[in-house]
Amino acid sequence: MARVNALIVLGARPQFIKSAPLIKELLSRRSHVGLTIVHSGQHYDPEMSSVFFSELELPRPALNLHVGSGSHAFQTATIMVRLERFLKKSKPDIVIVPGDTNTTLGAAITAAKAGFRVAHLEAGLRSSDMTMPEEINRRLTDHCSSLLFAPTRTALNNLANEGLRKIARLTGDTMVDAMQMTSPSVRRAEGDLLRDLELKKRNYVLVTLHRPSNVDEPTRLTEIIRSLKRISKEAIVVFPIHPRTRERLQSLGTDIRRGREQTRFIPPQGYIETMALLKNAECLLTDSGGMQKEAFLLRTPCLTLRSTTEWPETLTGKANRLIRDPRMLPAAIAQARSLRFRGKRFSNPFGDGTASQKIRRILETGQ
Ligand code: UD1
Repeated sequence: MARVNALIVLGARPQFIKSAPLIKELLSRRSHVGLTIVHSGQHYDPEMSSVFFSELELPRPALNLHVGSGSHAFQTATIMVRLERFLKKSKPDIVIVPGDTNTTLGAAITAAKAGFRVAHLEAGLRSSDMTMPEEINRRLTDHCSSLLFAPTRTALNNLANEGLRKIARLTGDTMVDAMQMTSPSVRRAEGDLLRDLELKKRNYVLVTLHRPSNVDEPTRLTEIIRSLKRISKEAIVVFPIHPRTRERLQSLGTDIRRGREQTRFIPPQGYIETMALLKNAECLLTDSGGMQKEAFLLRTPCLTLRSTTEWPETLTGKANRLIRDPRMLPAAIAQARSLRFRGKRFSNPFGDGTASQKIRRILETGQ
């Protein structure tokens, strides 16, 4: 079998997670795909980047584009200029772009326009909310790719509706692979982690919020914090705080030190720690796409502080509920805490943990 030279471009936290099992598969002995890893540098703090490389045992990237923070235009354009130079030298057979961040879009456009084949990992997701930067990124990326790896049947149908069925393949979700790959480490870590944070199993609400639509608007953010304060009178609230959210809260003058009575703000956690916290939480309040799905797979009830989701499968059986108005949160959290769907049987629409193998075979055979 002829060897295929692939290049993967990643740079933000969720991309490290969803790419990890695929990178391992492509670097394994059974693989006929050669792989070069390029880090855009969109996320650069150790707790947003290198912790994932060490926890997920990923090799060092061959190149870091050191893009850093900035406006959407700045990030996307800087990635384009810097990646183009490298592509001209490295000439891969195919460029893999995971997810829906500015790194995804910048890499996809650059590679497609320079004449390289582009494969989009996690293709076909749609929230239909064009005010989300990720929705723009994923739509444009799908439409300039030559191979689309759809994680779910819904995603495949979305691609078919946009005339992309011929280049789309239903592979399952590599985030299921990532969860299976790391579940022994999560089991080993959870006891110590809960002890260090002085938490008991199923006795706290986990919160993660970082979407611009929630944290960039001071009135809405103030409303959210007010609701969290009310919730923390009834429940322990643990809030690993994303740097974007930390900055916004600091500019509002919110006290984000860890207090016993109030919301417990903690630094952003690694992947293993996040899975351990999620697995043992009474419920999750989030605006992350990936965490809605991870909560579903770990059977932790989820509330999503958004009006849409690109993962509609999670809404089945009350596993996930969309909340638009932060003032609804105290009542919704009280309800979610008393939900008992953990033990129930349900079908898993996200695949069986073999997505990375399927993708390797498609890359090897070209179909
Ligand atoms: C990005 C992705 C989003 C993803 C999220 C996961 C886009 C458009 N958004 O959002 O889809 O869900 O990553 O975290 O690509 N910062 C640091 N240290 C870092 C990185 C960022 O302090 O290592 C701060 C900077 O002030 C920066 C802000 O966080 O301006 C936002 O970072 P950015 O990468 O622009 O967007 P995210 O909100 O992280």
